[in-house]
Amino acid sequence: MQIIKTVSEMRAFINGVRAQNKTVGLVPTMGYFHQGHLSLMENAKRQCDVVVTSIYVNPLQFGPKEDLASYPRDLQRDTEMAKTVGVDAIFTPEDKEMYPGGFDTTVVMGETLTNKLCGSRRPGHFTGVATVVIKLFNIAQPDRAYFGQKDAQQVLVINRMVQDLNINVEVVSVPIVRENDGLAMSSRNIYLTPAQRRVAPILYQSLLQAKEEVEKGQRDATFIYSIVADKIKSEPLAEVDYVELYSYPDLKSIGTLKEKALLAVAVKFGGARLIDNIILEA
Ligand code: PAJ
Repeated sequence: MQIIKTVSEMRAFINGVRAQNKTVGLVPTMGYFHQGHLSLMENAKRQCDVVVTSIYVNPLQFGPKEDLASYPRDLQRDTEMAKTVGVDAIFTPEDKEMYPGGFDTTVVMGETLTNKLCGSRRPGHFTGVATVVIKLFNIAQPDRAYFGQKDAQQVLVINRMVQDLNINVEVVSVPIVRENDGLAMSSRNIYLTPAQRRVAPILYQSLLQAKEEVEKGQRDATFIYSIVADKIKSEPLAEVDYVELYSYPDLKSIGTLKEKALLAVAVKFGGARLIDNIILEA
């Protein structure tokens, strides 16, 4: 497995792969791997000849009061984990390689998909995500790129960008990988104290409770999200950031559940902010 730090080395690597008529799968990440990341790589490995994963904590997608400085990093550990699933190359550039002096171009998404959920709580976040992802696409020129359903809004935003800008990449969405107690795996779970970690599965439990009600016939959006909000509010260590329900995949507001819907939550445990979601079928 190769560790690549510069855009020119990455291009040389990809040119070599292309010369052999092999397909490339890209897994963009910010590192500090867990089984969720590995699942994306495993999917890529099954579908592509060569798998590249990027590890880059992208400053452009963090707000000024967010956790850029404390975001967990461990390249050694990530390298070992990536090897176990057969990743061929890790692209891990420095900030000055991705955003050299004079950098002045960003991809600004329209509001249709970004004026809600994490987009409205994290101004500029999806500009940062879209910009770094299109850069990674241009650098690695993948046939397919893999994203987790854990960040459901991110997948929709990337899909929109790929469609709108005619980018020649197939976006593949991979299901959420969870701990045994239901907590969605996240690099940020490391921030939780033991007490917070014990109660954190409440995110998924509340989503499952809402799903059960829908399966019993409940269709009222206000009722559905009050199930989730009430359950999370019952836990003193948890603070609701948002509970939102939209039609899926177009993210329109709904009063009554019809067809598919995205039920998504963001919850703060002290300084740690966790997200989770579920797709409901009416
Ligand atoms: P990061 O949070 O490191 O996540 C990298 C990829 O792993 C994302 O596509 C995310 O949805 C996926 N992922 C994270 N936890 C998962 C889980 N429990 N199950 C399945 N997939 C999971 O998302 C980012 O980085 C960044 O925004 C990035 C796309 C790399 C752009 O900087």
